[in-house]
Order: sequence, then C-alpha cells, then structure tokens
Amino acid sequence: MRADKLLASMGFGSRKEVKNLLKQGGFTVNDTVVKDGKTHVNPETDTLEVFGERLHYKPFVYLMMNKPEGVISATEDKRERTVIDLLEPEDALYEPFPVGRLDKDTTGLMLLTNDGQLAHKLTSPKKKVDKMYRVHVDKPVDKEDMSALERGIELDDGYVTKPAVVKVLNEKEKDVLHLTIQEGKFHQVKRMFQACGKRVVALKRERIGPLDLDETLALGTYRELTEDELEKLLD
Ligand code: URA
Repeated sequence: MRADKLLASMGFGSRKEVKNLLKQGGFTVNDTVVKDGKTHVNPETDTLEVFGERLHYKPFVYLMMNKPEGVISATEDKRERTVIDLLEPEDALYEPFPVGRLDKDTTGLMLLTNDGQLAHKLTSPKKKVDKMYRVHVDKPVDKEDMSALERGIELDDGYVTKPAVVKVLNEKEKDVLHLTIQEGKFHQVKRMFQACGKRVVALKRERIGPLDLDETLALGTYRELTEDELEKLLD
C-alpha cells in the first residue's frame, strides 16, 4: 500500500501532516528514508520506522453506521446486542469502539473507530464539537420552549445546559426539530425536552462536527469513511 495512506491509517495525522513527516525524512522502509508518499510499502514484510520508532502495524479503522433501534452503543454486553455485534468479523478484528453514546432507542450517526485520540477529540466537552439531532416530540414546541433551549435549560438534576441551536422543521405542527448541542450528558436531549414538558418520541443523530450521516445507509448498516470525511475529521 502507499506510504502516505499507511501513515494516515496509523494515526500520523491528516494528509498534510503526513506529507510533512515524509518531507522531513521521518519515515524509513528497511532503513532507507522514503520521502515520496506514493511509494509502495508492505507493512507485513517491510521494516517500517517513524523517527527511529518501529511501527507495529495495526491500522486505524473509521466506520460510519446508521444505528438502528434496539442495539446499545457499547462494545460488549451480556444481555443486549451491541453496535459491535453488527460488524463483519473482518472489521471487528480491529477492535473499533463507538464514539460517544446513543440510547438504545436512538437511531442515526454512530462513528466506530479504534483511534482513541480522535474519539477523545470528538467527545470531550472542552472541544465543543456540535452534535445535531433530529427530534420528534409529542406536542408542538412554542416560542418559550425555543428560547429556553437556546439560552440553556435546567435539567431534572439541576444542571443548566449550554446554549443550543434549535430549528423547527415543520412550521405547521412544530413537533419536529433540529437540535444542535456540544455536550453529551446522560439522555441529554430527552431531558432537555422533558424540562419543557415534552416527550421525545423519536430521536436520530444526523451530524457530528463536520460528519453528516449518509442517508443512503440502511438502518443497521455501515461503511468506511471516505478520504474526504476522514480528512475533515482529523483536521
Ligand atoms: N440525547 C439523548 O437523550 N439520547 C441520545 O441517544 C443522545 C442524546
């Protein structure tokens, strides 16, 4: 495989960062410096080093799943089916884990990876990554609900949420919305609407940071991220 692809797949950064690493002469194949990203290397048989450190080839995997209802976002569970149970054995082999949590009855965008650094970047509250949900509630929302959600609303445990972005998607019924938040407290979206006297009847995550759910993915199916998607996430 190409040297640049291999280095990117092992977490040495974006395309640009990998290019820099190669330019600096940081990558050697069988003790020879390789600066051209197009060079073919065989991670199974070649001796690869980055700045003198031997590489042990375990590529990162980045999978986008359209999570169905009825599975939990954990790696294993004694009773419940998990998102990992939906993977083909050749993907499960790399031991990906779900980035962030979705409730058992929540559907939509679930990223699965074994890249711990990226997972941290996307889930740490300090990084303020937007998560956009499509929310269907049991009653129409009014102006007061909207401004309370936008300002920050007190949840049942006294926690006041950070400001959210809210957009009503059906002006007539006013019960389907996009809610964008940067936090991920336990059942946060459901509890935010509960605080407005509404019950969430369907919840779907549609976006994490720059990554949009591929709506052509059937529920319960997944695919690898495209190079463009990965590049945007790693930037
Ligand atoms: N907020 C919730 O209440 N549930 C989810 O699954 C995700 C966010």
